[in-house]
Amino acid sequence: MTTSTITHAPLKSLPADMELVLKVIPMPADTNSNGDIFGGWVMAQVDLAGSVLPARYTAGRMATVAVNEFIFKQPVKVGDILSFYAAVTRVGRTSITVKVEVFAERIRQQGEYVKVTEATLTYVAIDDNGRPRALPAQE
Ligand SMILES: CC(C)(COP(=O)(O)OP(=O)(O)OC[C@H]1O[C@@H](n2cnc3c(N)ncnc32)[C@H](O)[C@@H]1OP(=O)(O)O)[C@@H](O)C(=O)NCCC(=O)NCCS
Repeated sequence: MTTSTITHAPLKSLPADMELVLKVIPMPADTNSNGDIFGGWVMAQVDLAGSVLPARYTAGRMATVAVNEFIFKQPVKVGDILSFYAAVTRVGRTSITVKVEVFAERIRQQGEYVKVTEATLTYVAIDDNGRPRALPAQE
């Protein structure tokens, strides 16, 4: 049997075709029993980051309807500087779908980025009764 080494060489640059929507540094209170950052904490940040671009389209209340894909590619460590990049991939009648990619700079290796998470989420514009409403016409 042969073995292969999977390398995760750090990136020197960040996506040029996505927008930086959030930066945050996880703290010890956000860890799991392994000492890495709890996946649920990362998911909550991704949900927040993912909502930034859709909010420009909904002009009002909205809700997350689906997390279509969520991949934890690398662990997140206490003190990592996390950068959340987002891009809209679909604008529907009532919904907007976004891709979110999360990059970590280890605190002592700034300028080197490791992609730790990627996800795709869908948000729906809702009315006062919590029902889907058509997106306003875009200018
Ligand atoms: C969001 C909500 C109002 C949507 O109501 P619904 O009756 O399911 O909506 P519809 O079936 O009419 O679909 C509305 C839009 O969502 C999209 N959608 C629905 N389910 C989806 C799914 N699983 N994946 C992707 N998009 C989905 C539809 O394609 C549609 O988009 P479009 O109009 O742009 O084509 C309702 O599901 C809800 O209240 N969910 C709870 C939201 C919430 O609490 N979020 C926080 C989670 S903790």
